[in-house]
Amino acid sequence: MENRMKVEFSAVAENEAFARAVSAAFIMPLDPTVEELTEIKTAVSEAVSNSIIHGYADSEGEKTITMECMVHSSGKVVLMVEDKGVGIEDVEKAMEPLFSTGDSEERSGMGFTVMESFMDKLKVKSENGKGTTVTMTKYLDVVSGI
Ligand SMILES: Nc1ncnc2c1ncn2[C@@H]1O[C@H](COP(=O)(O)OP(=O)(O)OP(=O)(O)O)[C@@H](O)[C@H]1O
Ligand SMILES: [Mg+2]
Repeated sequence: MENRMKVEFSAVAENEAFARAVSAAFIMPLDPTVEELTEIKTAVSEAVSNSIIHGYADSEGEKTITMECMVHSSGKVVLMVEDKGVGIEDVEKAMEPLFSTGDSEERSGMGFTVMESFMDKLKVKSENGKGTTVTMTKYLDVVSGI
């Protein structure tokens, strides 16, 4: 069985916690372990904060993040975080550990590395001036189905 959801929210710092909570609540029926849940919430935080901090850094007007989640009773979880912000010039470079275009005191350039290590698959699609979509897949150790 498959279940899906899609939420849209403003790209403001408060909504990082909202995105974590919503994704955690949605995957709860799959009975994730505390560790799996923490890993997913952390990966979601990294993706959402990137959209807020980098995607919509200097943009005026509407700043919207769309988050989609699909869960399958096999334990497969797919999470997508999308912004319509500035986009990433060189995705491969951006994904390198320690690479950051942000303030060096605040940013460590480890967001994508964290997403990659906590999830089983990470795909980043981005176009200059159009926005960025991060798709993360994780396979949970399922005991009971949904
Ligand atoms: N949604 C996005 N829109 C535009 N640029 C992005 C986006 N996400 C990431 N980037 C670019 O990729 C770089 C690397 O991102 P990453 O999350 O790995 O590090 P960081 O955000 O700079 O630092 P940290 O996540 O450790 O605080 C960012 O510095 C930024 O240049
Ligand atoms: Mg980051």
